[in-house]
Amino acid sequence: MSAKKVRKAVFPAAGFGTRFLPATKAMPKEMMPVVDKPLIQYAVEEAAEAGIEQMIIITGRNKRAIEDHFDRVPELEQELLAKGKHDLYEALHSATPNNVNFIFIRQPEQLGLGHAVLCALPVVGDEPFAVILADDLIDAQPGVTRQLVQAYEKHGASVLAVQDVPLAETSRYGIVAAAPLDGATERVTGMVEKPRPSEAPSTLAVVGRYVLRPEIFDELARTERGSGGEIQLTDAIARRIRHGEVLAHRFSGTRFDCGNKEGFLTANIAFARKQGLLPARRAGDPEDVSFPG
Ligand code: G1P
Repeated sequence: MSAKKVRKAVFPAAGFGTRFLPATKAMPKEMMPVVDKPLIQYAVEEAAEAGIEQMIIITGRNKRAIEDHFDRVPELEQELLAKGKHDLYEALHSATPNNVNFIFIRQPEQLGLGHAVLCALPVVGDEPFAVILADDLIDAQPGVTRQLVQAYEKHGASVLAVQDVPLAETSRYGIVAAAPLDGATERVTGMVEKPRPSEAPSTLAVVGRYVLRPEIFDELARTERGSGGEIQLTDAIARRIRHGEVLAHRFSGTRFDCGNKEGFLTANIAFARKQGLLPARRAGDPEDVSFPG
């Protein structure tokens, strides 16, 4: 099936980040660094790797640091170049790749993830687009957004990144029921936001990556408040299932839930090890949280 190219990505980033207070009192949670790079930059780089050119960041009050982060700082660039500090120049420049542009949209009220995505309608229009939640940092080769875009291009349907989670944790996620289709890509037959374990249709959880067909906007505009009193993206997607256009993709890669402290710290240790800043894990070390000294 020929599908329109995915050129745009939406990054909901208007949340308060209360789990990280006081760190997030004046700083957006999306700016919290894993080693030396803010979460939102990992997300943008993942989108760029998938061929996405337009980054649409949904912000709110106290989020101006995100806009500054993706702006150029010509004076500092000049200074670093003049001093021969090319590695720092590259690090500075990495936040503003030449072939992408940034659009910032304010979400005036925090009415939920579905509402945040709906705020992007004037810029996305009638095109497929990715949604990337920077809280979910996923170390993958190729990146998960690219994996989803490939599945979208093959099948022409919306695609959600999914992974199995422990039954006790279903109430933290959108959970899907799915039937086999094409290897790691399955057809979604049902979807519920944050079900109790006893009501979950499976343990297959949606993590923060989606490629969506533009029809989702009509559904979002009609979506009432759901779980947690918020307008849920899950509820809008669930209504597209009967049109046969929702797929789940069991991505390959390692996900770190940086929306909580344990996941955020684990990500820092794992990425520090990858960069050789901490020694590699040794046999017998406890699962992913040990480091010497
Ligand atoms: C959101 C979605 C949920 C999804 C989760 C992934 O929830 O509503 O369906 O499983 O992201 O991280 P949140 O974590 O924003 O409560």
